[in-house]
Amino acid sequence: MGLRRIHTDKEPSLHKVCKPVTSFDWRLHKLLNDMRDTLLDANGVGLAAPQVGILRRVVLVDTGEEILELINPELVSTSGEQYGAEGCLSVPGRYGWVKRPMFATVKAQDRYGNWYEAEGEELIARCFCHELDHLDGVVYTQVMDRFLTEEELEEL
Ligand code: NI
Repeated sequence: MGLRRIHTDKEPSLHKVCKPVTSFDWRLHKLLNDMRDTLLDANGVGLAAPQVGILRRVVLVDTGEEILELINPELVSTSGEQYGAEGCLSVPGRYGWVKRPMFATVKAQDRYGNWYEAEGEELIARCFCHELDHLDGVVYTQVMDRFLTEEELEEL
């Protein structure tokens, strides 16, 4: 197990633009393995490298079937719209109302540098957008309407 500390949005790493990955070497693989352990340990859906203090364009998304490793990811297309509650491991205990596309397709490199595409809908589309925002230093609290109230949180 290689657990890394999850940084909060009070820390500077959450507000920086991350650099592309250029070396698909053992260092990247170690980071990905540690991020996987950290994501599973935290029961999250997605995790971006800046959340563990690494300013590189690396994201993990747990689709429920597999954990996608998205290196240098880019949004290819989006469609539809959804409005719902969104949380973040770096903003513990709080949720906000955020509008996102219903469908999103991303292209990314795998841990060996091969490009591939992944499609997501609903929660996964939301997660793609949320995690890719992290790579540009954007936390959902900067794009949300507002935080959920205590009452709304209980209903959830
Ligand atoms: Ni997040």
